[in-house]
Amino acid sequence: MKLEQIETPAALIDVARMQKNIARMQAKMNTLGVAFRPHVKTTKCLDVVRAQIAAGARGITVSTLKEAEAFFAAGIGDILYAVSMVPAKLPRALALRRQGCDLKLVVDNPTAAAAIAAFGDQHGESFEVSIEVDTDGHRSGIQPEQQTLLDVGRILHENGVKVGGVMTHAGSSYELNTPEALAALAEQERAGCVRAAERLREAGIACPAVSVGSTPTALAARYLEGATEVRAGVYVLFDLVMHNVGVCMLDDIALSVLTTVIGHQEDKGWAILDAGWMALSRDRSTSRQSHDFGYGQPCLLNGTLLPGYVISGANQEHGILAAARGDPQADAQIEDITQHFPIGMKLRILPNHACATGAQFPEYHAVAPDGSSVEWQRFYGW
Ligand SMILES: Cc1ncc(COP(=O)(O)O)c(C=O)c1O
Repeated sequence: MKLEQIETPAALIDVARMQKNIARMQAKMNTLGVAFRPHVKTTKCLDVVRAQIAAGARGITVSTLKEAEAFFAAGIGDILYAVSMVPAKLPRALALRRQGCDLKLVVDNPTAAAAIAAFGDQHGESFEVSIEVDTDGHRSGIQPEQQTLLDVGRILHENGVKVGGVMTHAGSSYELNTPEALAALAEQERAGCVRAAERLREAGIACPAVSVGSTPTALAARYLEGATEVRAGVYVLFDLVMHNVGVCMLDDIALSVLTTVIGHQEDKGWAILDAGWMALSRDRSTSRQSHDFGYGQPCLLNGTLLPGYVISGANQEHGILAAARGDPQADAQIEDITQHFPIGMKLRILPNHACATGAQFPEYHAVAPDGSSVEWQRFYGW
């Protein structure tokens, strides 16, 4: 199908850009000498994940058991479920392991560790569990020097649960925007996770995997001694948030929302689009960064950027394209909004946050360099 024939709004993946992003990350990991385990929550799409594995990824990271079930059914067996386990979800984890899935769990507290041990004992299953380490204070995990780290390690180790390793995610990297600050955080992430592994080993608990990563720290890391693997997710498509962080160019962003001009408010200089927040998502993360992209960056159908324009507002099924505040080039053109953006014209919007925008759609349209496209399914839910 040609781009012009696709009904709007629709999520497009520029396949050449995606492949370039995959190759860039894999080359970086090969240079650093670590295994790469992509986080597939960004796309939840088998076609994308197959491309990541073809490039050299070893195993995947998931954020839901639904992802684990779907990817295992498609033949991918090495899966890290990187969200702290709760007892109520253990039967689903057990079912996956019984089918032969090498599903690895994560915990960051003694209660969940004890529940996994008791459930495993009850069902004759030896789970493999990694301990989540907090290396930057942004979310969950146990700090490397906390006593709880050893408490959790011992609960698992002494009750027949294999400690697979330690893992951390320095998500505060999204708040940074210089190479030096990103490299420093990558080192903090590495050093904290390695330190946690050393403490467990000193306590007599084997800790084979040392798993680190976020897209910014993975791309900024200068060396990763002691780490065995890196996880990153959003790098595969990139987005405006990552552009503001400084780890991609605008023309690396592989995801865009195809939309149609459906009307105007001439006196206000607005073109109205059929992509509102239901298509673009309500993610406004760039409002906290150096460049606020509103609800997204408009481009022509062929991908050419429209500098000076922004999606300034979004209702459920309406988006508003307007001149970016104070931009002289756009202010001049906005006089002729109906001429520049006639009804029926198709545009593409680069998203603030690729994971959130992709999740608004049941499928992607994967666009080849010649402009033809095929559908790639993605899935929902937990
Ligand atoms: C546990 C964990 N690992 C890895 C990632 C990947 O981070 P990014 O999308 O920045 O690459 C995430 C993302 O939220 C995560 O939660």
